[in-house]
Amino acid sequence: MTALNTIDVGTQGSSGATAMSVGVQPRRQGVPAPATARGIVEVTGLHKTYGRIAAVQDVSFSVGEGEIFGILGPNGAGKTTTVECISGLRRHEGGTITVLGLDPQRDRDALREVVGVQLQEGSMRSELKVWELVHLFASFYRNPRDETELIDLLGLTPKRNASYRSLSGGQKQRLSVALALIGNPRIAILDELTTGLDPQARRDTWELIEQVRDQDVTILLVTHFMDEAERLCDRVAIVDKGRVIAMGTPTGLAQREGGGNHMRFQPSQRFDESVIAGLPGINRVERQGSRVVVSGTGDLVNRVTQALGAIGVQVDDIQLESATLEDAFVRLTSRPRVVGRSDQS
Ligand SMILES: Nc1ncnc2c1ncn2[C@@H]1O[C@H](COP(=O)(O)OP(=O)(O)OP(=O)(O)O)[C@@H](O)[C@H]1O
Ligand SMILES: [Mg+2]
Repeated sequence: MTALNTIDVGTQGSSGATAMSVGVQPRRQGVPAPATARGIVEVTGLHKTYGRIAAVQDVSFSVGEGEIFGILGPNGAGKTTTVECISGLRRHEGGTITVLGLDPQRDRDALREVVGVQLQEGSMRSELKVWELVHLFASFYRNPRDETELIDLLGLTPKRNASYRSLSGGQKQRLSVALALIGNPRIAILDELTTGLDPQARRDTWELIEQVRDQDVTILLVTHFMDEAERLCDRVAIVDKGRVIAMGTPTGLAQREGGGNHMRFQPSQRFDESVIAGLPGINRVERQGSRVVVSGTGDLVNRVTQALGAIGVQVDDIQLESATLEDAFVRLTSRPRVVGRSDQS
C-alpha cells in the first residue's frame, strides 16, 4: 500500500442504504493556504504516455476553492490518468500541475496531508476489519477525522468488525470514500464514486458529497453519470482521447453543445419535413413513429405551429424538453459510426 490513501474498490454488488450525514468539523490549522485567486488545482498542458499510448495529450483546467469540478469522458479518455497525476501517484511527462501551490511529484508528503483520494481501482486484498483499516489510514495523518463518526456517517457501523474482503462491492465503495475523507483533506479526488452503488446509496452519497463540499472541501469528481454531474458539479470538463474538448457549467454546456431544445408533437397529418427544417434556429427534424421531434433554439413552438398552420397541419400534444448534459456529451464525443443513432433512454 502506498502512503497515499488508495484502496481497492469493488464495482459490483450493492449495499443496503443508510442515510448519511456529516458532522461539521472546523477547518484545521497548519495546512497551506489556497493558491489565492488562481485555482486550488491548476493543470496546464498535461501530457502522459504509457509506452506508445498517449493517455493524456493536452489537458488543462483550473479548479476554484470549494468547487465540485467534474471530469467526464468516454472509457479510455484519460480521466483516471489525469487524477492519478494530480494526486502524485503517476509521473507526467509534460505540462504542469499545482495543487494548493504544491508540486505533486516534488511535494508528495505535503500533498498527502491535504488531498484525499478514492481511486477507481486498486489492489488491496485485505483481511483487516473495517475499523482497523480506518484506524490504519487515520494514523497516516496529522489531523484525522473522528473514526467512529466517519464509519457511522458512511453507514458502515454494522460492518465495523467485518473484514474488508467480506464486504459487498457497494460497501467497499463506501469504505473507499471513508478512507478518502479520513485525513480531513482540503481536496477530495473521487474517481467513479457511485459506480456499483444501489440507487438509494447513490443519492445518499450525493448528499454526503454536498455536505463535505459545504465544509469547504474542494472536490474533483470523475463520473460517467450525467445525472450525478448535473446534480453535483459546479463545472465540468469533458475529456476525449486525452484532450479537454469542452468545459463549463452543466447547464451552460447543455445549452451550448446540446443541440438546442426539443419540441415533440403529434401532427394532424403527414407533411414534408423541409417545411420546418429550413426555418431559422431549427437544427434537426426527426420522425419518431407518428410523432415529430424538432431540435433547435429560440421559440420553437411559435415558429413550427405557424409554419405548419400555413399548410393546414395542426400541431397537438406538444412536449418541450431542454437539452441535457447527456445531449451535449453524446454530441461532443460520438464517433462517426454512431451519429444519428437514437438510443437515449
Ligand atoms: N497502467 C497502464 N498501462 C498502460 N496503459 C494504460 C495504463 N493505464 C491506463 N492506460 C491506457 O491509457 C488510456 C487512458 O486510460 P484511463 O484509465 O486514464 O482512462 P479513463 O478515462 O479513466 O477510462 P474509464 O472511463 O474506462 O475509467 C487508455 O487507453 C488505457 O488503456
Ligand atoms: Mg477511469
